Amino acid sequence: MRVGFVQNNPVFASVQENLNRIEYLLKGQSADLFVLPELFATGYQFKDMEESRSLAELVPEGVTTSMLTALANKTNSYIIAGLAEIEENQVYNSAVVTGPSGYIGKYRKLHLFDTEKACFQEGNLPLQVFDIAGAKVGVMICFDWRFPETARTLSLMGADLIAHPSSLVLTHCPQAMITRSLENRVFSVTADRVGMENRVEGETLHFMGQSQVIDPNGNILVRASMTDEEVHVVELDLSLARNKFLNPHNHIFNDRRTDLYH
Ligand code: ACM
Repeated sequence: MRVGFVQNNPVFASVQENLNRIEYLLKGQSADLFVLPELFATGYQFKDMEESRSLAELVPEGVTTSMLTALANKTNSYIIAGLAEIEENQVYNSAVVTGPSGYIGKYRKLHLFDTEKACFQEGNLPLQVFDIAGAKVGVMICFDWRFPETARTLSLMGADLIAHPSSLVLTHCPQAMITRSLENRVFSVTADRVGMENRVEGETLHFMGQSQVIDPNGNILVRASMTDEEVHVVELDLSLARNKFLNPHNHIFNDRRTDLYH
């Protein structure tokens, strides 16, 4: 399987411009699956729920999901990307899954970070694993990394790969995702953004790039810079993620002592 990420630098609220930029960055690229960052088309730093609601879109009818679906069709690839979603006047920090034949599904971020709690509702959908180009793909968003139960649950559900749209501001995440991959023997694709937003007095956010693909042995297959817009595609051997044995005596799931865990 060929999987890639786009690391972009969105301009806050310039949705059409940011969508055009993704199309430009993907010109000439090919992969079975591309992962894009969290809130890749709106930017990240909303001031309140009113502002996030003003930029939130219906899924799949909205302009962002429609454009992604058209792009997935044109490039014959699957795309997983983060966006602000509205449903019945509730706003969610979501990710959509689209493919060559159309819209497939969505995930709503379970663990909201810091001031996101004032801008979004908590995710209320079950964790889900999607069938994508022969792979089982789980989706989680950014700060979900800090709750290992998220990646573990997706992995126990059979995920070979975790797609992880992000807008990273906490420096430990790229290293922590190595552990998430290692402890579950899954691939992970973190698609982060670069740049800075200072829309709230005294709360400048620096996004740290370093989008990456990690293999089930914890190896960094590719890691992008901290500063530039970049696209990378790598080839994955999914059989690595389907073998949960570390050696003939240790199976990463069967050896868990669920009789003693809380
Ligand atoms: C984050 O969850 N965007 C830090």
